[in-house]
Amino acid sequence: MTTVASRTRTQVAVVGGGPAGLMLSHLLHRARVETVVVDHRTVHEIETTQRAGMLEPDSVRLLAETGVYANGQKRVLTEGDRHGGIYLRFDGESHRVDFEDLVGACVWLYPQTEVFVDLHRARTRDDGDLRYGISATAVHDVADGPRVSYRDAEGAPHEITADLVVGADGSHSICRDLVPEHRRHHREYPFAWFAILCEAPKSAPELIYARSDRGFALITQRTESVQRMYFQCDPAEDTAAWSDDRIWSELQARLAGPDGFTLKEGPVIERTVLPFRSFVQTPLSGGRLLLAGDAAHTVPPTGAKGLNLALADARVLAEVVERALATRDLGVLSDYEDRALARVWKAQQFSYWMTTMLHRADGTTDFDEQRQRSELAGLVASRAGSTYLAEGYTGWPNT
Ligand code: DHB
Repeated sequence: MTTVASRTRTQVAVVGGGPAGLMLSHLLHRARVETVVVDHRTVHEIETTQRAGMLEPDSVRLLAETGVYANGQKRVLTEGDRHGGIYLRFDGESHRVDFEDLVGACVWLYPQTEVFVDLHRARTRDDGDLRYGISATAVHDVADGPRVSYRDAEGAPHEITADLVVGADGSHSICRDLVPEHRRHHREYPFAWFAILCEAPKSAPELIYARSDRGFALITQRTESVQRMYFQCDPAEDTAAWSDDRIWSELQARLAGPDGFTLKEGPVIERTVLPFRSFVQTPLSGGRLLLAGDAAHTVPPTGAKGLNLALADARVLAEVVERALATRDLGVLSDYEDRALARVWKAQQFSYWMTTMLHRADGTTDFDEQRQRSELAGLVASRAGSTYLAEGYTGWPNT
């Protein structure tokens, strides 16, 4: 029999130390519920992976108003960029959708990496039990008396026993298979996004979502001198086949128009192909296991809902877990299902709609192109249409 190097007993074992897992651990800490967070990635790996990051007002509030920041230094507000709207660009013209005017709300460009840095700092400050860079994670006996086992960086085996286990372990979740009698609702898309990071000044004050006959493009930002851009591509696209020149001519062609708009170019410092799908697994929990964030649902990136959903899951889950542990009533956990899924399906619909409105599908006909243009023209010409977009983009009221 192998000797276990350590056995830890905690209230909630959290598998996955990204934004969903860390926010949950943070909120539970404030409710005096003990957690242990495990993640096979290292902190450095997570901190250096580029992810999207448009935060809804509720996500900003969750960061700014729950004690994540010590001594009032609210980085999300000081380092984040407030955006009062976006541009929709089609037929070579940009149309601003003014969120502040339409729904009295704005969003904050604050990449997921920064959200992770803030939450990791908060949990470290509060002496949270965080175990990164581990391997061979496995979850056992979710029906009753759950356990998480793993190996540390030296290969020694460890075990955590808990009242509840939360699978916040992202789109490659090992936890989601363990929910009994689950169903998977998904939709695949025949395209992906080619993502670049480049050293260039901003090309526009706010994000540009562009539809063209060559496919979709999104111009977003990181700093005054580093920008993030995406264009629709084939899922099998090879990044090595794309020189800087080829990338820039493709992006310029997708943004070109009679108004003479051009992107400001610069060296491409990172290129990746991002997968694209819609996915929801139900139920979100079974026995003493609950799923949160990408482990439970994935949205296509258009509209940047993924991180916001993960943080909203953590908010609801923290409340429900606190109540379930205090009352020793697991029945309370079904509340999570209803409240989280209501938002998840709204976000699924919104992301699907933004995607299909702006991307070019295989086998697109002239009819499809005209209809798509007409949808966009109708949307920007109608206060009701634009308001629907603004409501979805800035997020729905809390459930
Ligand atoms: C970003 C990504 C998105 O998918 C989006 O809709 C908005 C912004 C980003 O990476 O900044």
